[in-house]
Amino acid sequence: VTRHFPEFLTLTASQVEQALDNLLPKTADTALATAMRHAVLNGGKRLRAFLVMESGQLYGVQPAQSLRAAAAVECVHAYSLVHDDLPCMDDDDLRRGQPTVHIKWDEATAVLVGDALQTLAFEILSGPQTAPDTSLRLRLIRDLAIAAGSAGMVLGQAQDVAAETALTPLTLEQITVLQANKTGALIGWAAAAGPIMGRSDTSIMAAYAGAIGLAFQIQDDILDVEGSVADTGKRLQKDAAAGKATFVSLLGLDQAKRRASDLVSQACDVLSPFGASADNLRQVARFVIDRNM
Ligand code: IPE
Ligand code: IPE
Ligand code: MG
Ligand code: MG
Ligand code: MG
Repeated sequence: VTRHFPEFLTLTASQVEQALDNLLPKTADTALATAMRHAVLNGGKRLRAFLVMESGQLYGVQPAQSLRAAAAVECVHAYSLVHDDLPCMDDDDLRRGQPTVHIKWDEATAVLVGDALQTLAFEILSGPQTAPDTSLRLRLIRDLAIAAGSAGMVLGQAQDVAAETALTPLTLEQITVLQANKTGALIGWAAAAGPIMGRSDTSIMAAYAGAIGLAFQIQDDILDVEGSVADTGKRLQKDAAAGKATFVSLLGLDQAKRRASDLVSQACDVLSPFGASADNLRQVARFVIDRNM
């Protein structure tokens, strides 16, 4: 895969891809396995994986253990993208510069790939190599279930779909809640994985993730308006066409950019107790809004 993102992300990306390659079912096994590998292994910035690895590093977690949590969150994320692209959702034919699963295969395969990736994530977390202590594994599993489910990411997706046909445009507050669910919850789990596995308090990482999660989705919405298909690897200008409620639709580009930049400053401030050891997390916070992909 050719990458155009910073070196510090590339390194984590190749590590997590190696782990995913080992954890995913083999192509030779089934057609379903081939489609799962297409959805997970072909590109992606691996931002959530990076957050798991870096928060793990900050809280003294063994890299081999963080790597499994990173692989798990990338499986849930990839599942969410496969389903997000389905005709009944955003109806997209391009993802990470490749045909989406329902285009390359069919809709039934895309639904099942998503289902299988989601359960694989929990299977990975439940393995003793993820954390020797059962109660730590249970905490990771429970928190990911909550983050991904009907009070988190799936709720955000439902709110996103509902907003397309809402009679009155969403308020800023409603959009903030929607985006915190749809994108923020999974990013929140990724950043909290370090302190959870390191048996520490999650509040600093939660505050950091709350800010960058929102900034990340604002930038996604900005790129939908002014990004390029070549850089993002997906179809653009789809939000306005679908009548989607975003920060950009409500605030306009300039104010949305200012809001995203304020959030990144906020995220970096939260990290001050860590000093220089959190520099990678500061760097990725800036990448979240500087990226063109
Ligand atoms: C795209 O996520 C979908 C959103 C939640 C906004 P990413 O931009 O992290 O997608 P990949 O993993 O890099 O393809
Ligand atoms: C996707 O949001 C969020 C989830 C998959 C949970 P978008 O629909 O904005 O993501 P893109 O723009 O298709 O990547
Ligand atoms: Mg969507
Ligand atoms: Mg979409
Ligand atoms: Mg989008």
